[in-house]
Amino acid sequence: MKKKSASLRTAQPRPQRARGASSKTTRASVPTAPHALPLHKAPIHPGSILSSTQLTVEGVSKILALASDLESEAVRTRELRLHKRRVSLLFYESSTRTRTSFELAAKSLGADTVLVSALSSSIEKGESLKDTGITLRSLGAECIILRHPSSGAPYLLAQATGLPILNAGDGIHEHPSQALLDLRTILYRCFGAKQARSVTEKSLRGMTIAIVGDIFHSRVARSNALLLPKLGARVLFCGPQPLLPEHAADIGPGVSIERDFDRALQQADVVMMLRVQQERLSGLQLDLENYTRRYQLDAARLAAQAPRALVLHPGPIIRGMEITSEVADGPQSAIEEQVHHGLAIRMALLTRALETPATPSARKKTRR
Ligand code: MLT
Repeated sequence: MKKKSASLRTAQPRPQRARGASSKTTRASVPTAPHALPLHKAPIHPGSILSSTQLTVEGVSKILALASDLESEAVRTRELRLHKRRVSLLFYESSTRTRTSFELAAKSLGADTVLVSALSSSIEKGESLKDTGITLRSLGAECIILRHPSSGAPYLLAQATGLPILNAGDGIHEHPSQALLDLRTILYRCFGAKQARSVTEKSLRGMTIAIVGDIFHSRVARSNALLLPKLGARVLFCGPQPLLPEHAADIGPGVSIERDFDRALQQADVVMMLRVQQERLSGLQLDLENYTRRYQLDAARLAAQAPRALVLHPGPIIRGMEITSEVADGPQSAIEEQVHHGLAIRMALLTRALETPATPSARKKTRR
């Protein structure tokens, strides 16, 4: 790995902010209270999934059961579930897994999908998120899946449109559908398909999930840290100080920090490796050689410290940096399974979004 810089120096990572989105994401506020986003004036459609904070244990169980039901349903029956319903995918950031699996999930339920991406739409000409959302609603969108570089953007879109919004990743804030698919992967691999249909506050009791790497910029880390402890898991954040500020542990109960990777691995039942989000470092200088030496998961380390742990990664994987190919493709890895579970979870989230009635005032908002 080529050395990028000699120092491991911090600067202020400044997440990008786009027109019309909240400016609440700052280095000071995000790790301590990323979920303390602005209060909403208009009601959020109850079919929306914006954050892991809104998920109750009972709600998670319903999503898991629905995911299993939909997965085992005959193709023809499934296609009638959301027959001709209109789903928009609004993507301001690139994506492979999330976008494709939401799209395939919608199509396999019979919905019509339309993709709007920042580079091929009026967004490029400066149209705001709010106006783009209202335009999609006027064209008949009944649900919008949003990926946006600004933390809080899905809340703004939910308020502006009154439609169910599914957060497909907002800045460095959250990625709740990823946390749900990670949970389904853990349940399947550790307990079997039957146990992956429902959860209680004790389902993951006694389990330690180590989340390793660029925690600060990871919406995946945040959504998992807000979800998994609700089911009894202990979440252990592991990474160097600039990518894992001390107060990250204040995100919620059941979360703590272990800087030493080997010690974190020794305690882990599941180890979730994260990519260093180079596109969000904004001035932060990382010595990648040193980082790789300290935090790369390679076969020798895994065998020595966590020979039975399950290995997860939300992707994209940077092979040879945070994880080696031997581990990513090895028997302890469930990385491909995560992608597979994403499809079932997203089918469930879309069904939930489109089958949940709007609250009366939200209904008024969407009436044309
Ligand atoms: C994300 O969108 O947050 C990804 O799943 C993780 C990453 O980009 O590294």
